[in-house]
Amino acid sequence: MSRRLLPLALALALALIAGLAGAADGKAVYDTHCASCHQPDGAGADGLAPPLQGTLGKRLAVRQYVPGIVLTGLAGKMVSKGVTYTGMMPSWAQLADTELAAVVNYVLGSFNAAELPAAHTPFTPEDFAALRASKPTAKQLRAWRAETD
Ligand code: HEC
Repeated sequence: MSRRLLPLALALALALIAGLAGAADGKAVYDTHCASCHQPDGAGADGLAPPLQGTLGKRLAVRQYVPGIVLTGLAGKMVSKGVTYTGMMPSWAQLADTELAAVVNYVLGSFNAAELPAAHTPFTPEDFAALRASKPTAKQLRAWRAETD
């Protein structure tokens, strides 16, 4: 591809991704529903919620894990960067699949951009629709997380 066409192709690809996600605004969903616990920059808060910044790239090795925890929620102990968090991650199943895809893509693309695996493709509303049909259990989520440690 010529150098002049590349920016155009990138712009088209981004427009396509936004279109697939129903153009829900991932940052707006994050700021409304996630930032109070995980903090606006994803740094997390001791005693409240683990960081979502620079920690999720490796978790994508099991593709269903990150969307699964957002859909199902999880309570109990979680160790992140050597710190133990004992808290409650609510389920966000009440949000639309377009919002779920947008917020997860925002968290990954903004706070974890440097660690995304080269082969990673953004999540789509269809990914969430499929997961809803067989929502992962807490046990399943913990096993997937352990697999990506
Ligand atoms: C009430 C506080 C709270 C809110 C609001 C919240 N979370 Fe969480 N989140 C947690 C806690 C606590 C955990 C750890 C769960 C555990 O200890 O089992 C967690 C874990 C996670 C994880 C897994 C992190 C890891 O290292 O495996 C992801 C991803 C996540 N949250 C995303 C989100 C997103 C996206 C939203 C908004 C749609 C959100 N959270 C809203 C408290 C919260």
